[in-house]
Amino acid sequence: MRTEQPKMIYLKDYQAPEYLIDETHLTFELFDDHSLVHAQLVMRRNPERGAGLPPLVLDGQLLELLSVKLADVDLAPGDYQLTPDSLTIQPESATFTLDTSVKIHPETNTALEGLYKSSGMFCTQCEAEGFRKITYYLDRPDVMSTFTTTVIANKQAFPILLSNGNLIDLGPEGDDRHWATWEDPFKKPAYLFALVAGDLWCVEDTFVTMSQRKVTLRIFVEPENIDKCQHAMDSLKKSMRWDEEVYGREYDLDIFMIVAVNDFNMGAMENKGLNIFNSSAVLARAETATDAAHQRVEAIVAHEYFHNWSGNRVTCRDWFQLSLKEGFTVFRDSGFSADMNSATVKRIQDVAYLRTHQFAEDAGPMAHAVRPDSFIEISNFYTLTVYEKGSEVVGMIHTLLGAEGFRKGSDLYFERHDGQAVTCDDFVKAMEDANGVDLTQFKRWYSQAGTPRLAVTESYDASAKTYSLTFRQSAPTTPGQPGEAKKPFVIPVSLGLLDKQGNEIPLRLQGETAASGHSRVISVTEAEQTFTFVDVAEQPLPSLLRGFSAPVKLSFPYNRDQLMFLMQHDSDGFNRWDAGQQLSVQVLQELIAQHQKGEPLVLDQRLMTALGTVLADESLDQAMVAEMLSLPGEAYLIEISEVADVDAIHAAREFARKQLANGLSDALWKRYQTNRELSKTTAYVAESEHFARRALQNIALSYLMLTKRQDVLAAAIDQFDTADNMTERLTALAVLVNSPFEDEKAKALAVFAENFKDNALVMDQWFSVQAGSTLPGGLDRVKALMQHSAFTLKNPNKVRALIGAFAGQNLINFHAADGSGYRFLADLVIELNGFNPQIASRQLAPLTRWRKYDSARQALMKAELERIRASGELSPDVYEVVSKSLAD
Ligand code: TRP
Ligand code: ZN
Repeated sequence: MRTEQPKMIYLKDYQAPEYLIDETHLTFELFDDHSLVHAQLVMRRNPERGAGLPPLVLDGQLLELLSVKLADVDLAPGDYQLTPDSLTIQPESATFTLDTSVKIHPETNTALEGLYKSSGMFCTQCEAEGFRKITYYLDRPDVMSTFTTTVIANKQAFPILLSNGNLIDLGPEGDDRHWATWEDPFKKPAYLFALVAGDLWCVEDTFVTMSQRKVTLRIFVEPENIDKCQHAMDSLKKSMRWDEEVYGREYDLDIFMIVAVNDFNMGAMENKGLNIFNSSAVLARAETATDAAHQRVEAIVAHEYFHNWSGNRVTCRDWFQLSLKEGFTVFRDSGFSADMNSATVKRIQDVAYLRTHQFAEDAGPMAHAVRPDSFIEISNFYTLTVYEKGSEVVGMIHTLLGAEGFRKGSDLYFERHDGQAVTCDDFVKAMEDANGVDLTQFKRWYSQAGTPRLAVTESYDASAKTYSLTFRQSAPTTPGQPGEAKKPFVIPVSLGLLDKQGNEIPLRLQGETAASGHSRVISVTEAEQTFTFVDVAEQPLPSLLRGFSAPVKLSFPYNRDQLMFLMQHDSDGFNRWDAGQQLSVQVLQELIAQHQKGEPLVLDQRLMTALGTVLADESLDQAMVAEMLSLPGEAYLIEISEVADVDAIHAAREFARKQLANGLSDALWKRYQTNRELSKTTAYVAESEHFARRALQNIALSYLMLTKRQDVLAAAIDQFDTADNMTERLTALAVLVNSPFEDEKAKALAVFAENFKDNALVMDQWFSVQAGSTLPGGLDRVKALMQHSAFTLKNPNKVRALIGAFAGQNLINFHAADGSGYRFLADLVIELNGFNPQIASRQLAPLTRWRKYDSARQALMKAELERIRASGELSPDVYEVVSKSLAD
């Protein structure tokens, strides 16, 4: 934290480093009240930067310098310059060694960046710029070095000493200490460095790679969690096999380790050979983790493992290229999850998330391109845009090239750039070169921010038997990028045409000699473009953007009957779901308008009919049924509103849910009971068919509770009391918490807290369920929960579980008209800013969306942002988000 204004950094200013580091030798001496870090760097002038010997400027923050030696000669204070974030030295030859010793304080590090302590163990988090809080270094991803690391610590408190690579040697030191030396032969940037020292147990397994090398796999956890690692281990082995089969990528070290830590700012980190995970992203077993948590563990284990190639072997040149590794790796983990579970359901979930949250980011003050061109604090750019939209961009390349072409491209990329730090342009170039295509225009997806709109109209000529679709694309204005200045994107649109029976018409475009397929991808490349299909014997109904083939807001003037028809007949499962969502949106928007006019609410019965048909169809995948029964969320309804009326949105959606519950109660009850019986008689299995059955059971229960039937209440209580897994138990708790049955609710909450008080991750669920309850009085409940003995602001998972869930999911309470929710969040951000800037900045996101609301709420939200801005010394993280949110 500093008082001068933090500086903006620009991609256009990128320059290669003046010096390189070939070898890094580190020794850590860990003590209770400080730690010492000795670094020996084998360095040389970067030949790319010419001859001379400019000053060497090393990054360093919060370090107490004890000694510096250049080429084995001690430097006196006058021989170097120190600032709060650098150490400058004048080298005297093109190659030299530099030795430094610094003192640091992991024991008081609350920012959870650099070396810190979590539940008594030492661990590190260096991405993006945390290594500079450990030692003086060239802390940038284009400086790649081999690392040798020795860790010395008390033997009893820290029996396990880990770092990247392979264990070389270990031994005792004095009476009560010991040491271990690790060597990582692969050159890597400092952000991939990791160290762990703790009292940990591990689960061990082995994996035989495609070239028959044996790899030791270890997952380290606190002893009480040793029974919750099997799912992560299974996920790891599946990921390793999948990456061999789908991408031809093999693991490269003899050992792969995962360590679970309780205090972690994000999900997990891909440090070479030593991934460090938030315990919430590792631990999972039936009794304590939901199906969603199991799937999240599987996805994150895969994500971090896949980074070994997309991120570590081939890394980023600079942080503007973050999506090079993150977008690609999200694309890879999505493909993995799709293969392990239901691909359509995975796609539905990803798209619902993207449309709700990434589209909102794209429409807000922090909107940026997938490859941003400037930032103040890079931690603020680990965003939905870089990750999720970045994955969509890679996905569009996959769609355009086909699976085989994409694989040729990824093979060339990995082969050409192994061991290098490269750019998004290099990635696209490999795709182009391997396929002989030109993606110049496509690359606008990397530089132009905002969600494009794609308006589609049709015209049918019965006498000529031609059917034309006209596409008009436009891009919104985003900070620093006027909409008019944006050039057309390449938008791959996967589509089909349905006849009156719901059969697909063979697709032949004007000028083609024969039809090719019933579903195909056309590329919209101009601002306005018409595609004409020939041999179309009757007016068809188009199925557009199948599988969500591009991250755009597509509109087509469907009426409700047409959407119902698509829901039933579209051969594309994703589009069947999407038709249902569009139908629901139309019906809900009508209810919202009725509420605003003070009219009685009347539900269009076609929605009831459509969902009743879905519910009655036992041939459908039950997970699909569950997804189709889920109405668009309030956050999504806010996102698609011109001016969001939170009260009307909440009232309309709750009204629709109650109407559907009453109208469909027999069918819901039947499916609930069938599935609940199966849950009772089947042992818990973390597999997609079982996820599907429980998903339908649970959504049915949440609707049925709205009917206030006594038999449903009894069923919920029975499910709560007797379930053998957290998926059923937590849903039962949630429906009770959201119900008017006060005694039953209080009892369930108390029983749950008593049973799980020693399990922090389960208590997070307990906090979240209550924070998300939209019943009146939400803020008071959250404030009371902050006083609970299991709550602490110092633990990011707790902050997310209570504060994040309240401000992000309990929209009716957070947006209370008196501004109390905003004031509460601003107070917390100010407090968090003082000890964990990354978490403070992330929690701030809901306030940045002020432009979406009515003028009274806008004023209240802006006033809170102003108050944060004036609150004192802001971290660069919070400063950047607040100042951009208030800029006009
Ligand atoms: N690279 C990590 C990932 O796989 C992201 C990450 C983990 C991170 N911890 C962090 C980013 C702390 C910034 C700060 O997605
Ligand atoms: Zn990642």
